[in-house]
Amino acid sequence: MNISLNSQGIKNWNGETLVLGLVENSIDDQISQLTTINLKSLGDKLDKRKFKGKPGQITSFDFLEEPSKIIFVGLGKLEEITLQDLRFAAASAAKATIGSSGKMGLYFPWDAFDFQTAAKAIGESVRLTWFKDSRFKSQQEIQIYPEEIQIICESSSDQSFLNEIDPICAGVELARELVGAPPNSLTPKALAEIAIEISKQFNLDFKILDKKECEKRNMGAFLSVAKGSDLDPQFIHLIYRPNGQVKRRLALVGKGLTFDSGGYNLKVGASQIEMMKFDMGGSASVLGTARSIAELRPEGIEIHFIVASCENMINGEAVHPGDIVKASNGTTIEINNTDAEGRLTLADALVYACQMNPDEIVDLATLTGACVIALGDEIAGLWSNSDHLAEKLIKASTNSGEGLWRMPLKSSYKEGLKSSLADMRNTGPRGGGSITAALFLKEFVNKSINWAHIDMAGTVWSEKGRGLSPAGATGYGVRTLINWICESARQI
Ligand code: BES
Ligand code: MN
Ligand code: ZN
Repeated sequence: MNISLNSQGIKNWNGETLVLGLVENSIDDQISQLTTINLKSLGDKLDKRKFKGKPGQITSFDFLEEPSKIIFVGLGKLEEITLQDLRFAAASAAKATIGSSGKMGLYFPWDAFDFQTAAKAIGESVRLTWFKDSRFKSQQEIQIYPEEIQIICESSSDQSFLNEIDPICAGVELARELVGAPPNSLTPKALAEIAIEISKQFNLDFKILDKKECEKRNMGAFLSVAKGSDLDPQFIHLIYRPNGQVKRRLALVGKGLTFDSGGYNLKVGASQIEMMKFDMGGSASVLGTARSIAELRPEGIEIHFIVASCENMINGEAVHPGDIVKASNGTTIEINNTDAEGRLTLADALVYACQMNPDEIVDLATLTGACVIALGDEIAGLWSNSDHLAEKLIKASTNSGEGLWRMPLKSSYKEGLKSSLADMRNTGPRGGGSITAALFLKEFVNKSINWAHIDMAGTVWSEKGRGLSPAGATGYGVRTLINWICESARQI
């Protein structure tokens, strides 16, 4: 996407499509300040169309001369406007420009925000709104939209910050493509190959462990899930090494089930088995983030990206409900439900992540339907053994506009995971199902390491699309993780 600043001011701007963000209650004032060729008479027309500048309002006018289209988007009351309102307004304007070509200029009440933060948010929103996945169509659908985007402002400033938009969006788009790909195309092997491709292209170190190597490492929990599939599991490990000294080490772990049938506890009824290609959403966020970070190259931080990928299927070798397996830290697990497979794969991935001696570990997983019931599809759940890490992640998500809400790691609920035969079982009672899932994971993390778990079962997919997410895979998590990592780098 070709995006730049145009500091000649709104009155001198020319181009095909002009997008103006208007604040509620003072439409006439704003219009008169924006006066260019033909804006003045628009005040009355906006009034007639009942455009008041409320959030979500949008209306446009076509002209014979440039700008040939002006799109007004409402932002709400000045004191209440959030960055997310700007993103959503830019997204609805971007949607309205699909089919137009040429130059698009965007002008918003910048004074209400840190200019760079606002301009970046708007640029990201436009690109991510225009994202279209036509990989699986036999005929490529060509979508037309403005090829040049200008952020219009009144005074010139350094515009190098705009260079971050493309690497960030490319990571989100990669995550969306990975999640959107069907399970007959995105297999564990294909996921590993894409991870290798990213590594080669952007200079990451990589290591892929095959089934034998996972056996050698005694990853009995992970391997038990893979047993029922004809496809071999793949353990993926990418490493970002900064230029210069390493001052902090982070690990990101993503659930990578390329398909989850439930196993012998087969998904039946309304359990959405046909959607379970998105069960690798955590790994998509992790690899999308790896792709972005490898290009942004933050200083001082080494990052490990870890995915234990496989399918949860059924055959004669598949794990039985009731089997007892042993994870790589020696913990024995009674599998009382084969559909609680994500935590089994994550158990070994977390043990492996701890061996990298990171200061902090964050895992992301489409782990429980219970989390969707609790928080819906706009908010992911966050569990952490560290208040400090939890706060940093919440702050990162507030800045990205990706919903995230801290949930309790209620230790007495561990009762629910007791097994009379093994050290623990993999499934607790129905109530508080996302909490027992988090407590299960906690058993595989060294107590001395700060760890957080994000359950993104609800946010990985948006059936209808919302804001900057077109319908389908959202790419949830990538922008929050990038914010968290880059903020950590700034704090060093
Ligand atoms: N991948 C699912 C979780 C899921 C469900 C994600 C619905 C998105 C939408 C996970 O592997 C699973 O099946 N979890 C079970 C756990 C239960 C057996 C304790 C669930 O949530 O039903
Ligand atoms: Mn499952
Ligand atoms: Zn699953």
